[in-house]
Amino acid sequence: MKNNKSKRTASPKKRKKKQQTILFWVGLGCFVLLGVVAYNYYTPPVSLSAAPTADNINTGAQLFAKNCASCHGPGARGQDPQQPMGGTLPNGGYLAPALNGTGHAWHHPNEMLFNIIKNGSIADDSSMLGFKGKLSDDEIVMVIQYFKSLWPPEIQMRHAQRSQ
Ligand code: HEC
Repeated sequence: MKNNKSKRTASPKKRKKKQQTILFWVGLGCFVLLGVVAYNYYTPPVSLSAAPTADNINTGAQLFAKNCASCHGPGARGQDPQQPMGGTLPNGGYLAPALNGTGHAWHHPNEMLFNIIKNGSIADDSSMLGFKGKLSDDEIVMVIQYFKSLWPPEIQMRHAQRSQ
């Protein structure tokens, strides 16, 4: 009993300290997490939601051929046009999906497409690396405008509804 009493008088302080420590780490965790999200998330230039000019699409096509076609295939038909959704390779890597409307890319709103291209894939083991520092924001926009121009009108319409 005596022991218990002394424990009880000592514990509230200890408990408070413990709570403060937990709060500190939770707070720090949130701060770091927010920092990471804020650091990596980019708002695309407004031109991404505007109607592209033929010049933009042409430049985008050239940029695509130079930077993306080695994996996503000519005409953005995918690394393996038989598997436009991508998938896994026998060696463990990923197949680059089609971006021409036959794959999954059009399910991503504009902002997300922009961020995938600028930051790279969220999968650590993906060969899809970010083009930050290699392509300017305007160049990324033109690449997106190019592959979006390959989408059938119906998909373009459905995507525009998603991106609003
Ligand atoms: C070295 C190969 C490689 C290059 C070069 C590359 N990608 Fe990728 N990309 C991939 C792979 C593999 C994936 C699928 C796996 C993943 O998302 O991590 C992918 C995924 C994507 C996605 C998401 C598609 C979806 O269906 O979710 C987009 C968008 C994309 N790439 C655009 C581009 C653009 C634009 C370029 C050029 C500026 C480019 N990629 C260059 C390999 C590449």
